[in-house]
Amino acid sequence: MVKIRFAAILCLAGLGCLIATSASGPKKLSSFDPQVNALLEKMTLDEKVGQMTQPDQTFLKSDADIAKYYLGSVLSGGDSDPKEGNSLEAWTNLIDRYQKRALETRLSIPLLYGVDAVHGHNNVLGAVVFPHNIGLGSTRNPALIEKIERITAVEVRATGINWGFAPCVTVPRDIRWGRTYEGYAEEPDGVKELGAAAVRGLQGDDLADPLRVLGCAKHYAGDGGTAYGSSTIGPHLLDQGDTRLDEKTLREIHLQGYITTIRAGVGSIMPSYSSWNGLKCSGSKRLLTEILKDELGFEGFLISDYGAIDALSGDYKHKIAMSINAGMDMVMVPERYREFIARLKEAAQDGTVPMARIDDAVRRILRVKIAMGLMDKNHSQLADRKLWKQFGSAEHRAVARDAVRQSLVLLKNEHGALPLAKSAKRIHVGGKSADDLGNQCGGWTITWQGSSGNVTPGGTTILQAIKKAVSKETKVTFAVDGKGAEGADVGVLVIGETPYAETNGDRRDLSLAPEDVAAVENMKAAGIPVVVILLSGRPMIVDKAIDKADAFVAAWLPGTEGDGVADVLFGDYKPSGKLSFSWPRSMAQVGVHRGDASYDPLFQYGYGLSY
Ligand code: GLC
Repeated sequence: MVKIRFAAILCLAGLGCLIATSASGPKKLSSFDPQVNALLEKMTLDEKVGQMTQPDQTFLKSDADIAKYYLGSVLSGGDSDPKEGNSLEAWTNLIDRYQKRALETRLSIPLLYGVDAVHGHNNVLGAVVFPHNIGLGSTRNPALIEKIERITAVEVRATGINWGFAPCVTVPRDIRWGRTYEGYAEEPDGVKELGAAAVRGLQGDDLADPLRVLGCAKHYAGDGGTAYGSSTIGPHLLDQGDTRLDEKTLREIHLQGYITTIRAGVGSIMPSYSSWNGLKCSGSKRLLTEILKDELGFEGFLISDYGAIDALSGDYKHKIAMSINAGMDMVMVPERYREFIARLKEAAQDGTVPMARIDDAVRRILRVKIAMGLMDKNHSQLADRKLWKQFGSAEHRAVARDAVRQSLVLLKNEHGALPLAKSAKRIHVGGKSADDLGNQCGGWTITWQGSSGNVTPGGTTILQAIKKAVSKETKVTFAVDGKGAEGADVGVLVIGETPYAETNGDRRDLSLAPEDVAAVENMKAAGIPVVVILLSGRPMIVDKAIDKADAFVAAWLPGTEGDGVADVLFGDYKPSGKLSFSWPRSMAQVGVHRGDASYDPLFQYGYGLSY
């Protein structure tokens, strides 16, 4: 066993060197070390520990704490919004207010302000909300993902924020997991290149580009591979559970996205809440230091997940020391930051955490900040409000519309149901999600969990898009329950999931909701062709709907640009999406993958029709 592991280390060490030295894109972060070390030498212990501390802005006891504790970073986690509301102006004023405080410190080291811009700048009203990763995975189009993330970076920068906690390079292996939609694919080959493309889009080739932001590959490692029922929270299903795999399998499935995003120059990586073989990732030296930093040559910094170290063993000081000594560099505290600072200082002073480890962590953080030009006194670190005119722009929405088109997967199309005729006399639309932007966008939209309804301005529902697409003579009627379709040329039903995020999305069963099945039956009873569009964060058990449908489209969580769905429905764009998740025939097939003897899905990984 030892021999094999050693061989694996040698081979990966070679790979690691390859990655570290031959990364084409951005400059190696260690190339900034002369400037970094010069700054590090000036720093007091208080200033060093402050750089390693990230509170959520909600819990700041006063803005003055940013300077008083030399904070290196602040975040807005889900629902951590400006008190004045989620407008572009309110967000920009909030970030500038905090940044000015950081600049008051002796060394004027600016903040990294982090936010979950996971499908556009999704916290802010009026932002373009792109398809979630599960839809982008169906496009298999790295160039498109790079373009999306470049646009996202501009919209994030418009608010003065300089760090997005994306891309999520998880490989969800059990779609009962509530975070399935944050993954591009159930197989590493569907994640590797899209994750790298996302980093290139967010960070560009030069981290100092004021139109780019720092990326964050997450959640390292094996967040999508937890065993069903191993979760210790919520309904105790999958989220934050235990991934029980040998190291070879973990590497093959769950590390591939980190190898490619490191090669693309990702500046930060977020260890997962979950465990690997019973040990929390946040406290695993094997994962955080030996594999990620030593073998794979990661030169940026590790940011913990939200309060993740609280789940480690022992008292708070022990949790802190365990995680920092394992290789964590910055801690998303997020609430008791004053206590965190006091305990970490104690640990540094009594040797529980060696000063060399503190210096390495701060060096990694400063590498990124200096690479981003944050210490360049010629550049303002406040928001560039000239970018507001691009925020939610028609140009950005056009790219999102194209992403929607490319993400749709046509699973069934009989009797020529699709494409629809724009000159049809009457199209009857139904389903709870036909005219619901919130259901179109899913979780992580304006609020952490997302919500049904008209959640953000500037978007287009599928019903609105259908009305825009048809001829002036065409009548478009609508009934949520699908009734009243008699006499129409065709019925279009939009059904599926309502928004959720993280643990709240863990499910025991993935059958369609009764109201969705009823709507399909009502529409079918009218004796007309029926097209079903499913809005969901994962494949669902659709046997009660697909047999009654003449056409069936998986639209995932497309975001604000419903016109992209109409483009496919009316043939302005021929469907090209391919499943990046196997579609189970029944719940018995969930968690079964290509290569498994019992693999017998309704639709295979890679399936997708056109016309
Ligand atoms: C959340 C998520 C992580 C996110 C972080 C900050 O709990 O696990 O994806 O980036 O906290 O909001």
